[in-house]
Amino acid sequence: MSHTSRNILVTSALPYANGSIHLGHLVEYIQTDVWVRFQKMRGNHCTYVCADDAHGTPIMLRAQREGITPEELVARIKEEHEADFAAFNIGFDNFHSTHSEENRELASHIYTRLQQAGHIDTRTIKQAYDPEKEMFLPDRFIKGTCPKCGADDQYGDNCEACGATYSPTDLKNAVSAISGATPIEKESEHYFFKVSSFEEPLKAWIAQGHGTSATVQAPIAAKLNEFFESGLQDWDISRDKPYFGFEIPGAKDKYFYVWLDAPIGYMASFKNLCERTDGLNFNDYFATDSHAELYHFIGKDIAYFHTLFWPAMLEGAGFRKPTAVFCHGFLTVNGAKMSKSRGTFINARTYLDNLNPEYLRYYFAAKLSDGIDDLDLNMDDFAARVNSDLVGKVVNIASRCAGFIKKRFDGQLSATCSEPKLYEEFVHAGEEIADNFERREFSRAIRQIMALADKANVYIDEKQPWVVAKEEGKDQQLHDICSTGINLFRVLMTYLKPVLPEMAEKVEEFLQLPSMSWDNCAQPLTAHAINKFKPLMTRVEKEKIDAMLEASKEELATMSEETTSVTGPLADAPIGEMINFDDFAKVDLRIARIVKANHVEGADKLLQLTLDLGGETRNVFAGIKSAYKPEDLEGKLTVMVANLAPRKMKFGMSEGMVLAAGPGGKDLFILNPDEGAEPGMKVK
Ligand code: 2FM
Ligand code: ZN
Repeated sequence: MSHTSRNILVTSALPYANGSIHLGHLVEYIQTDVWVRFQKMRGNHCTYVCADDAHGTPIMLRAQREGITPEELVARIKEEHEADFAAFNIGFDNFHSTHSEENRELASHIYTRLQQAGHIDTRTIKQAYDPEKEMFLPDRFIKGTCPKCGADDQYGDNCEACGATYSPTDLKNAVSAISGATPIEKESEHYFFKVSSFEEPLKAWIAQGHGTSATVQAPIAAKLNEFFESGLQDWDISRDKPYFGFEIPGAKDKYFYVWLDAPIGYMASFKNLCERTDGLNFNDYFATDSHAELYHFIGKDIAYFHTLFWPAMLEGAGFRKPTAVFCHGFLTVNGAKMSKSRGTFINARTYLDNLNPEYLRYYFAAKLSDGIDDLDLNMDDFAARVNSDLVGKVVNIASRCAGFIKKRFDGQLSATCSEPKLYEEFVHAGEEIADNFERREFSRAIRQIMALADKANVYIDEKQPWVVAKEEGKDQQLHDICSTGINLFRVLMTYLKPVLPEMAEKVEEFLQLPSMSWDNCAQPLTAHAINKFKPLMTRVEKEKIDAMLEASKEELATMSEETTSVTGPLADAPIGEMINFDDFAKVDLRIARIVKANHVEGADKLLQLTLDLGGETRNVFAGIKSAYKPEDLEGKLTVMVANLAPRKMKFGMSEGMVLAAGPGGKDLFILNPDEGAEPGMKVK
């Protein structure tokens, strides 16, 4: 086997710095990470960079709401994201931020080049403006009545009820979702990138392809063709102040739209890595004559930005274009869109609190292909698959053989390989498996690996080492069978290492191997000492899955308690579905006295409250820990929803919900005792 080493730069989409990583995100990070680990194992020089996508209106508004600077918010979220990624073994070589000096410089540089080459236009446009908040309103911050079907409470650009798309100016009774004010129309000058000037180079780039991969997948190419046919529109790349982002050079109070500097963040993260890594040179990867390969893994929803605007920007600014852009589909859970109320909107952290990250890495790999179809995480199938494949098949091979090697042969494998043909078959299969990893056909690779695992188990079943062990004078035979089993196991774990890095590390320790790679398993281990076998992976327990779903529901409850208490800007908490008066009248709001308040062990946000409703006591878990010490709450009054059906939460039964007011965080207010209010009184 000989490979010429390739220089490869790989990215995953930059997560927004205003929310947590969830399982939907992880499809992409796991897909990319498996591919990168595979490349590294094949001896290629592969670098994987990412960053937080830190700019834009939602981040600015969230920071305002929390009473902190956007920089503080972005720093906090970055820490959280990095911890989640590390726990899932996403092995970035660098994780940076788009709010960084490297990115500021690169964005200015790219913009200036585009501008000097005549690719930037300015035009005055009319937009919705919030006169109270004194800012232009992005479409999703305007709400009103659908001009087509009359549904209330619809976003500024499309109606969720009838599917109509329109411009925010068509919306009836429009209000700003930030302040509630009626938006006015206001003019301002905007900067546009003339994408249409790049139609020819874009078409050539799409047709080009590289090795085993097309520049873009077939359905994406088809979509791009539609865009070409209907004509490429200029792209609005500026936003007026106030905005959290980079100011456009030479344009006062104008900022780059977040989507302009986001992909430049890939370069910035790489540049930041180059600056502190010997032998890694930015220009080697980004000059037009670069021989390095550049791949972006993204979700299909952002293909437009990565396959039109981004390559056009690179072309116009005199940089190389991506070798290929790899799109994947969305994640569904149990066959449906992730849902907060069903508990299937699962954050990375909630998963980690309950389950082993390698289960998910394996399950996603077992289902991923090179296409853009959605991927379903079916919880029953997830448990069955991991248990049967990893625990039942793969680990089983080692656990059936390791004991004999340790007890009977002093931890030493046989001096020769007794099944050279079988071993050779396993090694040989590695080329096709590698080919499937290379083409991102992970599910095929996994299927092949599991077929080999079945074969190894059949071999052991037929040889029956547990019977041979009891027969006299058959030591050599027993030694050979078990050594073969261990050797086959080692080959399988080599192939699984990109998917299961943690388990592979345990296997390296068990087999006393430095670092398993495709090439070094060509020869079997003979007369080689191994360590005592320790359990490598335990079964997925259904109770843990249930606990994870329950915890996700509970997070929703905590979140909605916080949301209920927000009286300020609604930016990230859009107004919910309309209810009619009858629905409202069903809600029985009562004054309750907090007679006892306790910490809840293991809960970050919750306090356990005992409420006196004037004769009746209730146990309620409330997400107000950030604002109150339990002792300060005792004796205070609160308003509670008294007729909410009891809900089983991780920590016990919650028999109602308390209401508090304030912007959140530390400022969340409960009523002080007042002579006029008595527990049990109805709130009108
Ligand atoms: O869609 C998103 O979540 C964006 N934050 C992705 C940005 S990818 C890149 F272009 F920066
Ligand atoms: Zn409608």
